[in-house]
Amino acid sequence: MPDSGTYTEPRIRVDVLFGAAARTTALFDETFWSLRERPKQISPKWLYDERGSVLFDEITRLPEYYPTRAERAILRERASEIAELTGAATLVELGSGTSEKTTLLLDAHYAGGTLERFVPFDVSEEILIQAAEAVAARYDGVCVHAVVGDFEQHLSSLPAGSPRLLAFLGSTIGNLYPEQRARFLSRLAGVLEPDDRLLLGVDLVKCPARIEAAYNDSAGVTEAFVRNVLTVLDRELESRFDPAAFGYEARWDAEHEWVEIGLRSLRQQVIPLPALDVEVAFAAGELLRVEVSSKFRREGIEAELAGVGLEVGEFWTDPAGDFGLLLAAPAASSSETR
Ligand code: AVJ
Repeated sequence: MPDSGTYTEPRIRVDVLFGAAARTTALFDETFWSLRERPKQISPKWLYDERGSVLFDEITRLPEYYPTRAERAILRERASEIAELTGAATLVELGSGTSEKTTLLLDAHYAGGTLERFVPFDVSEEILIQAAEAVAARYDGVCVHAVVGDFEQHLSSLPAGSPRLLAFLGSTIGNLYPEQRARFLSRLAGVLEPDDRLLLGVDLVKCPARIEAAYNDSAGVTEAFVRNVLTVLDRELESRFDPAAFGYEARWDAEHEWVEIGLRSLRQQVIPLPALDVEVAFAAGELLRVEVSSKFRREGIEAELAGVGLEVGEFWTDPAGDFGLLLAAPAASSSETR
């Protein structure tokens, strides 16, 4: 695998902004600090190694995990309308994963005759390459410019190709804390050209029991997905976490309107992290937070977007009102100041 440049097929280009070395440096640095926070944390971005990505894919098909199906239902209904509204030549997908739902968007833009390029952007290189190959094979004449990157760090390197549609689906934005989200949205708004559009998928606040069920599935796939982070840490930091010494937990936090997901230490324990040359001490009952999954309200996310100069044109939901998909554009005043 070349670090950057042309891949096996001429219509595929893979830019690696976040290769093995950068990834390891970031993981060491972030983990060193995040394990000193209260609660102790691990960034959810480290959940998506090869096994983690496969497990997440399985989550999206679980009966309890409604967000993927709800978002797909909206996309199925609205993809042609989105293609008409955006006339996008370039479809960028942030945190694209397997790009499975993206097929609906690609189909619509391809049928509309505007699509020239697909830019999948993800931290997971293996998954990106699979997705790039599948898309190049399916859409004749469409180029795939894949970017292995961290969307909090590498937005400045998004390929040009106006008009672009930047899709950030699956409520992945819910993984960011409010301050982190504000910074991310402001950077995103900053790289949008006047003709570019943002397509954002957000899981909506609803009955806590249904939300909690989505993260406590009866098959235990979500638990396996979250526990996999210990395997990632063991591999990367040369630690030897005892999985049996941690219990899985996902509960609705009504104050923050997010699901807090993590592993609770079942006993007092000290875990050496040889790669960082430190030890981490857990009290009995102490939480290692692995992710938060924020849920949104229409007014709230519209206000956040307005705050960074993005105006929501359309806001669609599935029939049950579980999930929201919105299309936003740079506000007229902010494009005048360019
Ligand atoms: C990919 C962040 C949207 O929060 O629902 C699913 C991740 N974690 N089950 C979510 C996840 C556990 C997912 N996001």
